[in-house]
Amino acid sequence: MSQGVLYGIGVGPGESGLMTVRAVETLKTVDVIIVPRTEKKQESVAFHIAKPYIPEGVTIMPIVFPMVPDMRIQEEAWKENREAIGAILNQGKNVAFLTLGDPMFYSTYMYVYRALTPTYQVETIPGIPAFLALASQLGRPVAEQEDVVTVLPATADPETLEKVIAVSDSLVIMKVYKSWPTIKKLLTQYGLIDSAVMISRAGLPDEERFTDLAAIPDDAKLNYLSTILAKRNR
Ligand SMILES: C[S@@+](CC[C@H](N)C(=O)[O-])C[C@H]1O[C@@H](n2cnc3c(N)ncnc32)[C@H](O)[C@@H]1O
Repeated sequence: MSQGVLYGIGVGPGESGLMTVRAVETLKTVDVIIVPRTEKKQESVAFHIAKPYIPEGVTIMPIVFPMVPDMRIQEEAWKENREAIGAILNQGKNVAFLTLGDPMFYSTYMYVYRALTPTYQVETIPGIPAFLALASQLGRPVAEQEDVVTVLPATADPETLEKVIAVSDSLVIMKVYKSWPTIKKLLTQYGLIDSAVMISRAGLPDEERFTDLAAIPDDAKLNYLSTILAKRNR
């Protein structure tokens, strides 16, 4: 029996209408849809986005990717997940792995891709990354002319954050919930706080927009799905 194909599908940041034609068409052809979760209790945003296009009768398989500091627990989970996906592909079934935004941009999918690509046929279908959806929604170009754009995970160490915030014309700050006080301090220090806008859960029913970032307290609990766009006026 020939092996099935694994499709890594980017579903975009929030609105189902922002999924690509290829993503929607591919969902019609798969037997199993894998929905990654970081914890068992967490609802899957990627699944919610793709739901209108998922045909009845497709098997939905939630897979847990633990986000814990203990590498042994992570490695064990990766091994189990790889084996579980491999077992389905060995049955000749086509599998879709859903991922928020684009699969090659800060996504769990990359680990799956690396683990399975030597043995199985893997196809990646790009999705609209959250920061570009935000730019369109806000009517704020991310890059013009010679702008130097930096995409920054707020999880980076504070020295790196400061170095790049100091020199970038345009900033995309992701995973903001991790270190809001540091980000707020640096945006203020480098004169970017007034230009900065944050959107949480863009395109989802409970989306929130923040235009006065200076007013957000240091101890605010920001949503995991929050991104900031900031631009220096030259
Ligand atoms: C693990 S990364 C996933 C990035 C995704 N692959 C992409 O292409 O946008 C998670 C981060 O993406 C951003 N993000 C994803 N979806 C978002 C949304 N709907 N609204 C705002 N930010 C979002 C946030 O910065 C969040 O912390």
